[in-house]
Amino acid sequence: MKEKLKYGVDAPSVPILYIGVGLIVLIVGILALAGVITHYNGAGWTLAYGIFMIAGGLTFIHTSLRGKFVIWKNLLSGFKIKRNSKVIDLGCGHGAVMLEMAKHLDQNGKITGVDLWRSQDQSNNSVDATKKNLVAANLSVPTELVTADMRDLPFKASQFDYAVTSFAVHNIKPRADREKALAEAYRVLKKDGKLLLVDTGSKHKEYIQKLQELGMHDITMNQAGFNGWWSGP
Ligand SMILES: C[S@@+](CC[C@H](N)C(=O)[O-])C[C@H]1O[C@@H](n2cnc3c(N)ncnc32)[C@H](O)[C@@H]1O
Repeated sequence: MKEKLKYGVDAPSVPILYIGVGLIVLIVGILALAGVITHYNGAGWTLAYGIFMIAGGLTFIHTSLRGKFVIWKNLLSGFKIKRNSKVIDLGCGHGAVMLEMAKHLDQNGKITGVDLWRSQDQSNNSVDATKKNLVAANLSVPTELVTADMRDLPFKASQFDYAVTSFAVHNIKPRADREKALAEAYRVLKKDGKLLLVDTGSKHKEYIQKLQELGMHDITMNQAGFNGWWSGP
């Protein structure tokens, strides 16, 4: 029987907080509406706020468990990826993007996943969990997992055809450190290599500015739509 792959939930404390607060607020609203809580006029708004919070939490979970996979499937299918490409996934987590990329490569390619396995960024995050997914997927393309910081990659320059990174760079703080990560991605890419960066929208101007400074000029930016909503647009 095929083993089910486990990907964890991104930033698990966020949907727990949204749904937890939403439920409490919703109950207060229902009690106020039912007259159990008296001398309170805001039952309607309270109910609406509770529903809004719960919807935000559910949207977050949708993006983490489904939306992000659709984004990468669509993104990668838009490129003519050579089957012998060498790929690095920066902040690979449970390997969601490595596994999607693997569909485009053969045994002459290679995918290297790099991560620090931070469980606040993805639940049950560990090199062993990712290794288990890669083994269970029975890939023909060779893969490697490296525990390293994407701000200081243990690789020589100009090694990779693609650097991919999925909802990972925004986790690095402050801005100067995110810029270090982009500079490292640029350093390890071959001259004609491509960086595919998918992240929360709030930092897109910062990323574009840094990539231009590094010498990348052929830059395209797309909105992911509902599949990329984390609680909201
Ligand atoms: C939200 S998770 C996304 C994981 C995966 N890319 C995906 O889309 O499923 C962010 C990942 O970035 C990793 N990460 C955060 N800061 C990092 C750093 N400085 N170097 C390497 N990995 C990092 C976390 O450990 C986590 O696995």
